[in-house]
Amino acid sequence: MAFLADSLLSVKPSLTIAVTDKARALKAAGRDVIGLGAGEPDFDTPDNIKKAAVKAIDAGKTKYTAVDGIPELKAAIARKFKRENHLDYTASQIIVGTGGKQVIFNALAATLNPGDEVIVPAPFWVSYPDMVLLNRGTPVTVKTRLEDGFRLKPDALERAITPRTKWIILNSPSNPTGAAYTRAELKALTDVLAKHPHVWVLTDDMYEHLVYDDFVFSTPAEIEPRLYERTLTLNGVSKTYCMTGWRIGYAGGPEPLISAMATIQSQSTSNPCSIAQWAAVEALNGPQDFISTNNAVFRERRDLVVSMLNQAKGIQCPKPEGAFYVYPSCAGTMGRTAPSGKELANDEDFVTELLDAEGVAVVQGTAFGYAPAFRISYATKTEDLEEACRRIQRFCGNLG
Ligand SMILES: Cc1ncc(COP(=O)(O)O)c(C=O)c1O
Repeated sequence: MAFLADSLLSVKPSLTIAVTDKARALKAAGRDVIGLGAGEPDFDTPDNIKKAAVKAIDAGKTKYTAVDGIPELKAAIARKFKRENHLDYTASQIIVGTGGKQVIFNALAATLNPGDEVIVPAPFWVSYPDMVLLNRGTPVTVKTRLEDGFRLKPDALERAITPRTKWIILNSPSNPTGAAYTRAELKALTDVLAKHPHVWVLTDDMYEHLVYDDFVFSTPAEIEPRLYERTLTLNGVSKTYCMTGWRIGYAGGPEPLISAMATIQSQSTSNPCSIAQWAAVEALNGPQDFISTNNAVFRERRDLVVSMLNQAKGIQCPKPEGAFYVYPSCAGTMGRTAPSGKELANDEDFVTELLDAEGVAVVQGTAFGYAPAFRISYATKTEDLEEACRRIQRFCGNLG
């Protein structure tokens, strides 16, 4: 009898973390490496948030809390949902977890039975399909097209829905493409979903605030009230508030689902860190003006990277609406020969040879279910980005 669970057979460790680790190892060995793999802002957590954490420590707020979050944080989250998304969630409809990742995992663990299908548009955030598999569900990936800006089309959604569909996971702005749905595009999808009452919507709004050029963010339950009773609206402080290490994510949704998720959390990790919760209260209630300051930098970097990559031979890079990623196609380099003599057969070859030849670490599109392409995170110093793009141009220009 095998010792490890069968559910692990089809699950891989996160490829994005693998690339970051490889770049770190090369750097430690003395190589000049620019890592564009990490999915976190390079900005520090704002001071007011750090101070709130120190204050919480000094005040002895260092004990177990309610499993699903302190009332003060739930109140701040309820206000946030009302203020920014025009959604009403009471405290019993809100759960706080150790990062958005845990909240998504809990939702799937609370609802999936073997054979249940979860629709995941591709390219997707690496963890969705594997989390579905770990919870013995079946991921149904639906490939989007670069020409459609990597956005799911209503007819493709309609075709993917079966009687076994339990969830669709939507993520706008997207990791890895940065693509975001306009209100009209999202409405076209929610119109389809409204016709299928057995399908639940998990909307991952983690990058809500990271949108550029006056793009207006919207979320499914806000634009289609008929979906409110079967939507889990997920968000967190990691990206917007530069708090990836603090591990606070949250969601609003129907009370029976939230309560089931809290039961799972109570028997696994219990409450998220008490100090981080108090910091998150300050993040959500405190000044928000630093977000637009950070976004101005992100927008400038996006424009720089998109423009420089489109000048690289064989690369096609769409201009995304949000997040801090671009997702260029490297189809035009396939079959060409790298300086090592290796012929590029897929995007894994592309990223490996790019790292070896030029010391630039990016993540292969295969990790996100759409190839040949790669993901660049531009949450990195502008000078480094510029140098990395110059190296990518040189790498592509030198291919035989
Ligand atoms: C789309 C998306 N959802 C969720 C998460 C998880 O965020 P957290 O750090 O809050 O667990 C990430 C982090 O990379 C993400 O990119």
